[in-house]
Amino acid sequence: MAGAGNAGEGAGADSAARVRDLQALLNHHSALYYEGRPEIPDADFDDLLNELKALETRHPELVHPESPTQRVGAPPDDTVFAPVRHDPPMMSLHNALDVTELRAWNERVHRALAVGRDRPPAGRPALPGTEEACPAESAEAATEEAAAAEDAGPGDYTVELKFDGLAISVRYVDGVLVRAATRGDGRTGEDVTHSVRTIADIPIRLSGPAPPILEVRGEVILRLSTFDRLNARRIERGKKSYVNPRNAAAGSLRQKDARVTAERGLSFWCYQLGYAEGGPAFGSHMQTLDWLASLGLPVNEHAACLHDLAAVEAHVADYERRRHEFDYEFDGLVVKVDDLALQTQLGVDAKAPRWAVAYKFPPEERSTKLLDIEVSIGPSGQATPFARLEPVFVGGVTVATATLHNEDQVAAKDVRPGDTVIVRRAGEVIPEVVGPVLSERPDGSEPWSFPRDCPVCGEALQRAEGISATQCVNYSCPRQIRGRIEHFVGRAAMDIEFLGERNIDRFVTEGLLKDVVGLYSLDFEQIEQMKGFGKISVNNLRQSIEASKQQPLSRLLFALSIPEIGQVNAQMLAAAFGDIENIQEADDEALAEVEGFGPIIAASVRAWFDDAHNRGLIEGLRAAGLRMEAEQPGGEGEGEQLPQTLAGMSVVVSGTLEVFSRDGAKQAILARGGSAPGSVSGRTTALVVGADPGASKLRKAESSGVPVIDEAAFQQLLETGQLP
Ligand code: IVH
Repeated sequence: MAGAGNAGEGAGADSAARVRDLQALLNHHSALYYEGRPEIPDADFDDLLNELKALETRHPELVHPESPTQRVGAPPDDTVFAPVRHDPPMMSLHNALDVTELRAWNERVHRALAVGRDRPPAGRPALPGTEEACPAESAEAATEEAAAAEDAGPGDYTVELKFDGLAISVRYVDGVLVRAATRGDGRTGEDVTHSVRTIADIPIRLSGPAPPILEVRGEVILRLSTFDRLNARRIERGKKSYVNPRNAAAGSLRQKDARVTAERGLSFWCYQLGYAEGGPAFGSHMQTLDWLASLGLPVNEHAACLHDLAAVEAHVADYERRRHEFDYEFDGLVVKVDDLALQTQLGVDAKAPRWAVAYKFPPEERSTKLLDIEVSIGPSGQATPFARLEPVFVGGVTVATATLHNEDQVAAKDVRPGDTVIVRRAGEVIPEVVGPVLSERPDGSEPWSFPRDCPVCGEALQRAEGISATQCVNYSCPRQIRGRIEHFVGRAAMDIEFLGERNIDRFVTEGLLKDVVGLYSLDFEQIEQMKGFGKISVNNLRQSIEASKQQPLSRLLFALSIPEIGQVNAQMLAAAFGDIENIQEADDEALAEVEGFGPIIAASVRAWFDDAHNRGLIEGLRAAGLRMEAEQPGGEGEGEQLPQTLAGMSVVVSGTLEVFSRDGAKQAILARGGSAPGSVSGRTTALVVGADPGASKLRKAESSGVPVIDEAAFQQLLETGQLP
């Protein structure tokens, strides 16, 4: 096909140039991928490859023998590792990107077998002890087989995980490992015997009666727990961390010094017989897998034999949902026609077998343009950098912004406005920017630097030594004013309804409101004239504000946004002093004695009440008629036990929350009858995440199926005992 046709006829100069560009680009990325240091996500690579395929189909004269569409992988690098020829070649797989494509593959299989049926039947070898396809369900299998023969269907399917690692071939002679090689371009790979010998999962000597020659194929992977440990060690030693386990596995295998490979703790799953001489012959792929396992080779326990495509589809959906519960990554499932005679009948094309298909999950990593890095100011003044992105569909949602956490994180990733960046969203976790694609960095770009001034009020931002967070410390910053008012009116605080974030923003912007005291002297007539308000809504608002004056002291203390004073500490404070005046007069020592306080919380309370502005605030609220004393014991307020909404539950908190301090969150859980351990286990009810959560806690939660919730959901959990 290559070179055939009349180049002057079909393809315009644009198409020809684009094909050449794509061929060069794909060859470049395919070589990097193979070396374990890919620059772009797989999904982007696939998009480029599909574009090239489409162009080559339209203009076959542009197909070149060296085109990436004609090859399986990258050519081996024989300057470092000796070449090894694969016989039979190590093929790739065709992909199905959704159920429709999976069904289309199945249709093709049916059609090919129907054509085959018109010819004399391909003799299925009668092999001793191998009559059953799915060994555990022989009767059913036999019926199915009869049905399959009727409609020329493929019978059973074996469905395996599609491991996201590195394909290798391992050769045993008389049961002893003699050679292992990477896939390379499918025909020739690289000799990595020295590295593979160090992988504990791969036996040096097979157990049981081994055939004279056996070549098996499988995937070298790095477990997530091992990957986390490896990266932690690398960061400790000041080395760059690996972006994902597959890159780490590839880098570890292609080491000249096998001691380095040994340290990395690689794993292996065997999924295919490459070649055997002198062993038993089998009728089904599943039987082959069982036999390989009996020889001591690691075969994954999630390989399943299924009788029809409906069962395959259900199985695939089930594993897609559960993929984050595993300690290793798989990016899809491989569906194989189980019957080996039918496999032979279906055969292979230039790139891949017709009897198998890789059902790929939607990508969790994509690249996109980083339009800008901006800083958002939180309600308590925390300045958080975030990426504004060209919208990209990743992990099942369209992502247009992603947090960059703090100044150090931006510096460590060295992402710059204008960069092409890799965005990752795995499971339900918030999207993150993994890093830049350096080869696409525009010339003359500069590292990003944190703005010196608050984007809201223009005052200088501050970052205390030894702390990663940057703060706007201007008490009068409109964002903070809004933040404090939002917190004050919140359900767990003064519970003022009919005053959402948008209205607070309008009132502050239009000068109707400048602090929480102002809530009690709002000009309702003016509000009634505002768009979106009417008599009824203004009346509701007025009543809700009026009712808030009777809220117990503990709620008022919580509502005031005193650093370190969450709901539980507010209750302790109210119960210990009974009156806001007593708190104002209490010294450090008396404050430190409050249950659960200690000197740090005491100092924070003291400092807040010593501030002249805050004293004025208290006076204003007193004058407005708010309750400043705790109710007598027996009343509905302080001293009363909180509803035990979390009885029997275990809630873990990770990262920095906005409303709760770490201690405050813990105490809020304990006060409601729950437990608040420091680590996630299978028994954890929920993991609450704030900014910068611990990666290992997140991972553990994902792998154990523990719900991961944000602070708003946490507050709801505290109140109702229900997860959203
Ligand atoms: S079978 C001739 N089974 O996926 C068929 N491949 O995209 C050979 N892979 O090169 C492949 N898990 O590296 C097969 N259970 C599995 C697999 C698997 C991962 C990889 C393998 C292959 C690539 C194709």
